[in-house]
Amino acid sequence: MSLSVRPASTMADVDVIQVVGGARLAGEVQVVGAKNSALKLMAAALLAPGRTVVSNIPRITDIAIMGEVLRRLGCAVEYVGDEVHIDVPEHTGTEADYDLVRRLRASICVLGPLLARRGSARVAHPGGDAIGSRGLDMHVDGLARMGADVSGEHGFVIASAPYGLRGASIWLDFPSVGATENLLMAAVLARGQTVIDNAAREPEIVDICTMLTQMGARIAGAGTSTLRVEGVTELHPVHHATVGDRIVAGTWAFGAAMTQGDVTVTGADPAHLEIALDKVVTAGGLVETRPDGFRVQMDRRPSAVDVVTLPFPGFPTDLLPMAIGLASVSEGVSLVTENIFDGRFMFVNEMVRLGADIRTDGHHAVVNGRERLSCAPVAATDIRAGAGLVMAALCADGLTEISHVHHIDRGYPGFVPDLRRLGVKVERAAAPEEPTYTF
Ligand code: EPU
Repeated sequence: MSLSVRPASTMADVDVIQVVGGARLAGEVQVVGAKNSALKLMAAALLAPGRTVVSNIPRITDIAIMGEVLRRLGCAVEYVGDEVHIDVPEHTGTEADYDLVRRLRASICVLGPLLARRGSARVAHPGGDAIGSRGLDMHVDGLARMGADVSGEHGFVIASAPYGLRGASIWLDFPSVGATENLLMAAVLARGQTVIDNAAREPEIVDICTMLTQMGARIAGAGTSTLRVEGVTELHPVHHATVGDRIVAGTWAFGAAMTQGDVTVTGADPAHLEIALDKVVTAGGLVETRPDGFRVQMDRRPSAVDVVTLPFPGFPTDLLPMAIGLASVSEGVSLVTENIFDGRFMFVNEMVRLGADIRTDGHHAVVNGRERLSCAPVAATDIRAGAGLVMAALCADGLTEISHVHHIDRGYPGFVPDLRRLGVKVERAAAPEEPTYTF
């Protein structure tokens, strides 16, 4: 089976999603492995020659792009059902090009493994994206502490450690998910002990620690703010199943609450969504948890709740658009605060087109809930904003058309079929041709 990567030039606004409002989400939905874990697990495969198998992967474009990054580094990559089989050669390449990196910021996470195994790496600088500027200083400073020489040239991050990486004490200014992962993947093959303090604690970090440990790495403290890594000289390939996607699961939880619905989600651990599910309860929902999922029921108009995004175990920034969506239809005024990405509120203008009453000031949004939103053409600005707009469209009168849905495709496998399964009248269609205007 092959997952194909469309050329960037055809990725523009090709499809739209049309949603009939006034829907109530009801039924059961299954989530698969987390994009934000699977991508890093694929990069971790680079650390051991031989065949690594990652299962429970989501069938989304980002996975196909990461597969292509690995292919260009010399790996053979094959998709079999929900698995990706990665055959890593003894000597991989060391360069990841801009044409792929610009489409998948997460490809920066090949930097750590390449440096650890090959002693050098050239990875295109990913730049920012639609949710704000996204730095690399913590990745670079941490690798430099481990003895790497890191510089930037012609849009590339160039790193080398000809005599190998050595263990170091690293204190992160902020518990960055990407920096923690990159440094962890570098540290597992470094000489001696590395301590990463103020490390990220996300379930995806625990997932990669589990896989690396299976591969032979020595890591203590997974899921805490201090990771201690004893470097080893080699790792071996493994078969590892990706942790369930808490953000997709959380999207359905908020969708159920917004539409006064009744949704059972399977395939994700409710312990990974504690604060988010607690917000649903505060808004008036009933949440029943099970080891492999949860059920959300809401039988009245939700009440306003304040939300503050923070690194795990705080409220996830990736659910901020859903929190704004819930606030937009709740009774009362909610204050929603974003602390991770400076551009996360960019989609608010689209929510306002749907009739939401939102004012932003810096990293705060004041949302005055409305009984009903009103249908309008809107555009997804990033993955999570796109899903949030679809959920909001369910609460609007009439038919809403959401364009730029390639963003949604990057994070939500089978989104339209899942919406249908939950009772929504929804279509995916080719975007109408844009008229051309000439002088
Ligand atoms: N930051 C720096 N310097 C660094 C690293 C990060 O300033 O060296 C800043 C960023 O600019 C940002 C903050 O730290 O303001 C958080 O960045 P972090 O490194 O934690 O995020 P990330 O690794 O780039 C991952 C997810 C995001 C998710 C964040 C936070 C992947 C591929 N992406 O990004 O997911 O929002 O963690 O949980 O894992 C998404 O899936 O839609 C998405 C954006």
